[in-house]
Amino acid sequence: RGIPRFRMTVRSSVVSVAPILTKLQKECATPLPVLRHVADAMAADMRAGLAVDGGSDLQMILSYVDSLPTGNEKGLFYALDLGGTNFRVLRVQLGGKDERVVATEFDQVSIPQELMFGTSEELFDFIASGLAKFAKKEGGKYHLPRGRKREIGFTFSFPVKQTSVDSGILIKWTKGFAVSGTAGKDVVACLNEAMQRQGLDMQVSALVNDTVGTLAGARYWDDDVMVAVILGTGTNACYVECVDAIPKLKGHNSTSGRTIINTEWGAFSNGLPLTQFDREMDAESINPGEQIFEKTISGMYLGEIVRRVLVKMAEAGDLFGESVPEKLSTPFVLRTPDICAMQQDNSQDLVDVESILYDVVGLKSNLNARKIVLEVCDTIVKRGGRLAGAGIVGILQKMEEESKGLIYGKRTVVAMDGGLYEHFSQYRSYLQDAVTELLGSEISKNVVIEHTKDGSGIGAALLAASNSKYEHDF
Ligand code: GLC
Repeated sequence: RGIPRFRMTVRSSVVSVAPILTKLQKECATPLPVLRHVADAMAADMRAGLAVDGGSDLQMILSYVDSLPTGNEKGLFYALDLGGTNFRVLRVQLGGKDERVVATEFDQVSIPQELMFGTSEELFDFIASGLAKFAKKEGGKYHLPRGRKREIGFTFSFPVKQTSVDSGILIKWTKGFAVSGTAGKDVVACLNEAMQRQGLDMQVSALVNDTVGTLAGARYWDDDVMVAVILGTGTNACYVECVDAIPKLKGHNSTSGRTIINTEWGAFSNGLPLTQFDREMDAESINPGEQIFEKTISGMYLGEIVRRVLVKMAEAGDLFGESVPEKLSTPFVLRTPDICAMQQDNSQDLVDVESILYDVVGLKSNLNARKIVLEVCDTIVKRGGRLAGAGIVGILQKMEEESKGLIYGKRTVVAMDGGLYEHFSQYRSYLQDAVTELLGSEISKNVVIEHTKDGSGIGAALLAASNSKYEHDF
């Protein structure tokens, strides 16, 4: 797509930005009835997706993870994590119930932009070579019984149709990835081939979504964890479901009677309060019509929505001077961390807002303009946080109906991870407000939303341990 390199729009007449802001606030409003509708629709879409494949926007993917970590896991395990902006590798020596995590180390590199648009081989070679470098540095703290291969839990945070706990086919890329040649393939086979090219003799014992890894990682420390949510570059949720409530599940035996469902809720779209800015962003994206919930609430998109509003304001009003700066016209230059930094500015003159607006998008602003920009940010962040909260309540509602009182009547933990949730305090509190408004203060006391930092790496390693190819006898 051609990104305009230069754009100079001289206004024909000066109109006030006030109506743009008022309209935005009105269209993004999430009063209780809107939240309730979203929560109900989320629960209904979950049911429809569990009934048959393709039954709703939500794919409700079977993870083949039927049991969660107990604490008894032992041995040396590796984890790989490919999902958003970073690629991580981790190793851990698990010591069982008493010793738990005996030793652990990790490494992280950001994924070069060009790999997101390259070929499947290039991407998997990058992963395998990162793993090979990391594996070489394994020191004496780690112990692997003779004759065994090192086992890996592979967190792959894209929609994958699992064919077993250690294999699955990529349905499509999300979050701006457009790698050619992976969709329709088994991603574990892709990794195995790349590891062979590196001469690396390791094996994948569990392939998991980041939500599933987070659920497993959090459950290792807390038995009340029932749901995991990622709010980062993208967004998604998984939860513990009763196998009896999954009509589409045929011939899958779970001894626990439960299994983890990866909802892929980023694809949800029912009844969301959307604006012209959302529609235009979607139409110009690499996946138009897809991942609408994700495009409304997750980190990859919040900054871009704000940028689009600012373009309209710069074009229309007398807020930022005569012309629309070239920088402001570049898609995705304004990132969610910039929005977050502006919202943390407590200075009287909003000096941080001023410098971010100038440095990042080339806007010169007076105090009034900065205040308006902050209102725009707040409107988009508030809508995102509150809708995320409504999504969580939708899941809890579905679980409550199934279990008849076992969710709301006791402590239930929702494990959260992702940079958006971790770093953005306003977003977090909007989310919590929506959950409390929807559930009421009594029930919401039982629902604990807890940040599990980097749980998905250790979670994947734990799932590799519980699905180990070897006897658990050492
Ligand atoms: C995207 C992916 C999903 C992942 C989420 C969070 O929505 O499709 O699989 O869990 O991002 O990383």
